[in-house]
Order: sequence, then C-alpha cells, then structure tokens
Amino acid sequence: MTEKNLKPWGELYGIRPVNQIRQMLEQNMTEDEIIFHLKNDLKVDDTRAKMSLYLGKKEYNEKKSLRKNSVSLYIGIPFCPTRCAYCSFFSMGTDRMAKHVEPYLEGLLKELFETTKIIKDLGLLVDTVYVGGGTPTTLNPEQLVKLLGPVYDNFGSSLREFTVEAGRPDTVTESKLHTLSLLGVDRISINPQSLNQKTLDKIGRKHTTEQVYKAFNIARKFDFKINMDTITGLPDETEDDFKYTLDEVLALNPENITVHTLSIKRAADLKKKQEELENKMASIVGNMTDYSHESLIKNGYKPYYLYRQRDILGHLENVGWEKGDTPCLYNILMMGEIQTVISVGVGAVTKLVGKNKTERIFNMKDVFEYLNRLDEINEKKKYIYKFMEEEI
Ligand SMILES: C[S@@+](CC[C@H](N)C(=O)[O-])C[C@H]1O[C@@H](n2cnc3c(N)ncnc32)[C@H](O)[C@@H]1O
Ligand code: SF4
Repeated sequence: MTEKNLKPWGELYGIRPVNQIRQMLEQNMTEDEIIFHLKNDLKVDDTRAKMSLYLGKKEYNEKKSLRKNSVSLYIGIPFCPTRCAYCSFFSMGTDRMAKHVEPYLEGLLKELFETTKIIKDLGLLVDTVYVGGGTPTTLNPEQLVKLLGPVYDNFGSSLREFTVEAGRPDTVTESKLHTLSLLGVDRISINPQSLNQKTLDKIGRKHTTEQVYKAFNIARKFDFKINMDTITGLPDETEDDFKYTLDEVLALNPENITVHTLSIKRAADLKKKQEELENKMASIVGNMTDYSHESLIKNGYKPYYLYRQRDILGHLENVGWEKGDTPCLYNILMMGEIQTVISVGVGAVTKLVGKNKTERIFNMKDVFEYLNRLDEINEKKKYIYKFMEEEI
C-alpha cells in the first residue's frame, strides 16, 4: 500500500477551495502565480492544485457568462424510504413517517407559491431548478405533478437545467420518470453509493444492487442526463470493492459520476466508529480516490465541481465528473456562490448573492416547526425584495 499525504489540501481550509481559486483569478493573479501559491505557500499537493485551478477557471467563466437577474431555485424534500446509517443530510424515513408527507407537501406548496410571486414580481430569470433532499422520488406521480407542475408552468421557459435527485433506486418507477420528463426535468440521479450488496446491507440502504441497474435502465428510456453517486471509505470496503463499484458505474456510461469521500458527522449513526475508521481508512481512501481520478480520466470524464466537508476521511474531497459538456450547472453555481439560490422547504437556505455582499435566509430545520411557522418564513422571505432592489 502506498504511503499517503495525510494533508492533500495542505493549509487550504474550507469547504469551497475552488471558490478561493476563482477569487484569485478575479484579483488578476496569473495561473502560474496561483499554482506557485497553492503548492509552495499552502502546501496543496500537485493533483489538487491543478484540479482546483482547472475548476476555478470553469467557475470564473460561468460567473462571467451569467444572465443579468438570473437565479436558481432549490426545493427540499426531506423524505426517504428509510434512513441510511452514514447519511449526513436531514431526512425522515417514510417507513415510519409516511403520514407526514401530504401535510409537508401542502406547506411546501404554500411557500413555493409565495416565493414564485417574489421571483415574478422582481422579474428574475430562473436558470436552474434543483429538487433535492432526501429523496424527491419518494413522492408518487400525482404528488410530483402537484409540486413540479407549477414550477414548470412558471419557469419552464427560462430554465437551462431542471434536476430531480431521484437517488434511491428503490423509489424509481417508469411512471415517476415519465412524469418527470413531461414536467421538463432533464437531469436525475440514480445513486448506487456502492455496488457491493454486503456494503449496502451494512449501511442500511435497504435496496439491492439489481435495483440500481434496473432503475438506470428505466431512466435510459428517457432523455435525462444521469448522475450516479458513489462514496469511498464505506465501512469495511476494500480498494477492490470500490474499484468494482466504479468500474460497474463506468460501464453504464452515465453523463455524470460523483465520487464522495465518506464524512462522518456527529448526527450519523456511524460517528462512534469515526476514529477507528479514520486511521484505518485514510490510506485506503486515498488510493480509492487516486483510482477514481485515473479511471474517470481514462474513460473520458472531466471534473466539473468539487467541495469538501468537515470530518471527511483522509482530508479529501467530493468531486463531480462530467462526460462531454454535461455539468450540473446548479452544483457549480451553488457551490461557487456565484448566483443567488432561492430555496424552499424544511432546512432550506436561501443565499442572496449581490454585487458586494452575500446574505442568507434560513428555514426551520424541523418539519413540524417548519409547518407551524410557515407564515413567519414567508414574511422573512420578503427581505428578498429589499436585497434585490438594492443589489441588482
Ligand atoms: C442529499 S444526498 C441525497 C441522495 C439520495 N437520497 C440517495 O441517497 O441516493 C446526496 C449524496 O450525498 C452523499 N452523502 C450523504 N451522506 C454522506 C456522508 N456522510 N459522506 C459522504 N457522502 C455522503 C451520498 O452519495 C448521497 O447520494
Ligand atoms: S443517503 Fe439519501 S436515501 Fe439515504 S438517508 Fe440520506 S438522503 Fe436519504
């Protein structure tokens, strides 16, 4: 096993390293100066220095080409069929919480209605819509139409991208995907995380590997860009286990592949195993990541966005890869903080990006509090009028 650099990002801290490189470009630093600064002052390794410069330039160009008054819209669905053990996102399993889906949807529609009014009043152009969570395809086709019909009707004509994170293969059916395609959705995720059944069982994913292939084949009947999420460092996975997952995913030839590194947050059930895992996994995870770089590049993929998380194994990163020119624009805009993202739903954060400042509006993180205090949320959202009138 190769010895790994345990600080691949050196002294470059924060979850958005690329954002910092883009700012260096905006301050007119040359590419050579940036690479020198990253490698010599900040001790970033060669791979990460080059990759983050490449991505910084991408973010810089995207920012320059944005349409005036354009924004993105995020819609959060905090439900999944069951909770996965490693998950660091807020979500409730419908195995126990199904009765809360309808009331949540009603509340969400109210917030979406008020938010749509603000976007329309201000004449903003919605560039991208991202429906995430959780697992939005936990909703049935009727619920998807109820939620996304108004989005398509109001913003369909200006949209450059419409993503729904289908995610869990066990929620994917042909009728749901057909509904999504009729509603203008053009990008979805079918996420294996791992294609080793023993790992899926261990992390409580509660679906089979066959369901991943089946969901992918259903999705290919439509004209979606497909993303597939994988995670390095899952419990007890060997390098060969990860290689197998990635090779299988590559064979399916999706437009996007995202390689996450396991991050173990306080809230996750796996936290207690963190130290043990970290020591054991740092080197293994580094090798898995190296393998992902080599084989994704060999198979024609290029990185399009990158971010880091606290408590990420081996101090590594998460990278979204694209084949051809198929990036998820929302991910670049949101992670780069280069465009306003107006968000609805529980735990959603609206990020207002102005010429000189960025401000945030936070929604409640608890579903019941969110529903009880919807009027307060809608009132707080009216601040968008003031911000936009001053900043655009
Ligand atoms: C918001 S989740 C939603 C995805 C969808 N519900 C699913 O599970 O397929 C987005 C992605 O974050 C990644 N993720 C979640 N928790 C993570 C963790 N603790 N460490 C690394 N990646 C994680 C997974 O790859 C997941 O697909
Ligand atoms: S990983 Fe996805 S399916 Fe699993 S709990 Fe998290 S959001 Fe839900």
